[in-house]
Amino acid sequence: MSLERGALAHNTAEPLGSASTWTDALRQRSGHPIPSPDDVAPPASGPSEVSRRAFIRLSFWGGLGISLLGAAGTAVDFLYPRNVRGFGGPVPVGFAADYVAGAAPVLMREAQAWLVNLDPSEDRLGGAGGGAGLLALWQKCPHLGCAVPWNPTFSYEGDGGGWFRCPCHRSTYTKAGVRVYGPAPRSMDTMLIEVDAAGRVTVQTGAITSGGPDNPSRALPV
Ligand code: FES
Repeated sequence: MSLERGALAHNTAEPLGSASTWTDALRQRSGHPIPSPDDVAPPASGPSEVSRRAFIRLSFWGGLGISLLGAAGTAVDFLYPRNVRGFGGPVPVGFAADYVAGAAPVLMREAQAWLVNLDPSEDRLGGAGGGAGLLALWQKCPHLGCAVPWNPTFSYEGDGGGWFRCPCHRSTYTKAGVRVYGPAPRSMDTMLIEVDAAGRVTVQTGAITSGGPDNPSRALPV
């Protein structure tokens, strides 16, 4: 009876439901030390963790940036024009001696240009217009862009010596590309011509000047 009273008194001092009390008692009996709240390790979020995250983030964005720069450099290198040839750049068209003064214009397809050696003595209506030397006329019609052919038998105003005659809307031009008829807003455009010391002729197809009545005066004496 006294034992029961002792147990009852103990139960009154140690309230039921206190799990930590039972756990502490078991640990004391097994000989393990009870850790105090001060023994708990600090959370792993100190300065070293922050710097590790920053390093990983920096490595990721740095690598991505370098990859993008490399891709952009490759694209620029691929697209950068080198040794541009053909239309839009310099086009060699043979020697000045290949073009006879007063002869019919010659089409240089790569340059998209008619090469003509104007003879100032050719004083007919559709002739040189007083021009002397080499002239490069852009084949593209100034009206709507059709390719203008040289028609050696076409007769205009009684002059049957040959004219540039557009097949699309019949604009008509002299041998020097001067417009005399049709809806074209101006004469045929001209391109810059260069002749080196050996007589080699180059047409700068990227240097185009709008055509005008002064086309004959743009001829390069050779
Ligand atoms: S395109 Fe040549 S006259 Fe119209």
